[in-house]
This record gives sequence, structure tokens and C-alpha cells, in this order.
Amino acid sequence: MAQLVYNPGIFNADTMDKAKQLSVIAGTPIPENIRWGEEVKFLCTTMARELMLRRGDLILDYGCGVGRLAKELCALGCDVIGVDISPSMRRYAVEYVNAPGHFVAVAPEELALLVNKGLRCDHALVAWMFQHSPNVYADILFILKALKGLGGVMVADNRQMRLVPVQGENPWCNDNVDIWRQLELQLGIRSNTAYPGNWGADPSKIMIRSYMKTTNQ
Ligand SMILES: C[S@@+](CC[C@H](N)C(=O)[O-])C[C@H]1O[C@@H](n2cnc3c(N)ncnc32)[C@H](O)[C@@H]1O
Repeated sequence: MAQLVYNPGIFNADTMDKAKQLSVIAGTPIPENIRWGEEVKFLCTTMARELMLRRGDLILDYGCGVGRLAKELCALGCDVIGVDISPSMRRYAVEYVNAPGHFVAVAPEELALLVNKGLRCDHALVAWMFQHSPNVYADILFILKALKGLGGVMVADNRQMRLVPVQGENPWCNDNVDIWRQLELQLGIRSNTAYPGNWGADPSKIMIRSYMKTTNQ
């Protein structure tokens, strides 16, 4: 059997429209206007409520895409560091979020440098990103390292399906990694929130959970 090769190039965008399309690539039957409207508000207000966000909190938006959620978090008064593996997505995110002084978009290795120099974020948001990660365990540890003690992590993603970008004819691979199990091994569950059932998706296929970092690791 041929070896699967990770292909993050799938997230390269050459226009703002393409960057927007790739940000909501998950293949859900939810209409675009909901994903850019109600879903954005729902995820951010759920995060604000469950993690008790305060104005001025520094939020890590890991896998920020074009900044759909970062823009709303900035509007709620937070500062946001968006992290994305795709250089073009990071460029478009700065333009889309349009919050100078309150939003930056950096590569994972740039975040690693900042964290090694002592930066810590108050909370993290990881929306529709773990499904694409080739190494969920390493990403969780990396995100935890970037958080203050007792920081919270809000995750929204597919309950089961994985869509890891790989090279070849079928660009998405389901490797059956259980991202929720991996999260539970590292973090304490704080809340579960049902995805609204009237937006066209089967709510049982989507999980929205917040977690607490329980140690100063
Ligand atoms: C489906 S989009 C979600 C974007 C955004 N969170 C949202 O909900 O609008 C997934 C994003 O994660 C990024 N991504 C995928 N794998 C990544 C990784 N290993 N590290 C950082 N970002 C990654 C992609 O480049 C893409 O922009």
C-alpha cells in the first residue's frame, strides 16, 4: 500500500474568496450564510460564556484560516493571535480581520519562538482544525504550552470524521484518529454545547467542547 503524505498545500489560497472557501471546507451541509453569520456568533458567544472571556484577554486561534472567528473575538474586545500553517491564509487573515494592534497571524514556528520567549495566552480556540492535523497529540501539547495555567480551550469539530490532507487522487484521508480521546487525555472537560439542529447539519456529528488546562505544564 502506498504511504500517505501530508499535504498542507491544500490550504494555500490565491484570492480572498478562495481563502474564505478553504476556511469552511469541512463539507458540512450548512449554508454559507450560516457559517459566516450565525455559526460565528454562536461559537464565539459560547466560548465567551463557557471560558468567561474578559475584554483584553489574549486568545490563541489555532488554525485560524481567514480569521472568520478571530474577527468576532476582536469585536468582543479580545486580542487574538491567529496561527495557521498556510502562509497565504495568514496574509488574508490580517486583511479580513482588519484589527490592527489587536490581531496578528503567525506560523506555528513563530508561535513556538514567542512561547519559548515567555508569551502565554489566556485561552485558545481550535475550530475545525484538529480534523486536518496529522499529529493531534503534538498540536495539543503545543497549544497547552502556549496557555497560561488554568487557561481554557474551546474546540469545535467533527465528532468522528477526520479529513487529513494528503497527496494523491483522494486529497482527504480519514485515519480514524479520535481527537476527543486525545484531548481528554491532556485536559479536563469543562462543558459540552449542542450544535444547533436547525442549520442543516446533523448535530450528533459535531462536537463543541470547552476544556481547562489543569496544570502549569
Ligand atoms: C477548515 S479551516 C478552519 C478555519 C477557522 N478555524 C474557521 O473555523 O473558520 C482549517 C485551517 O487550519 C489550518 N491548518 C491545517 N493544519 C494545520 C496545522 N497542522 N497547524 C496549523 N494550522 C493548520 C489550515 O491551513 C486552515 O486554514
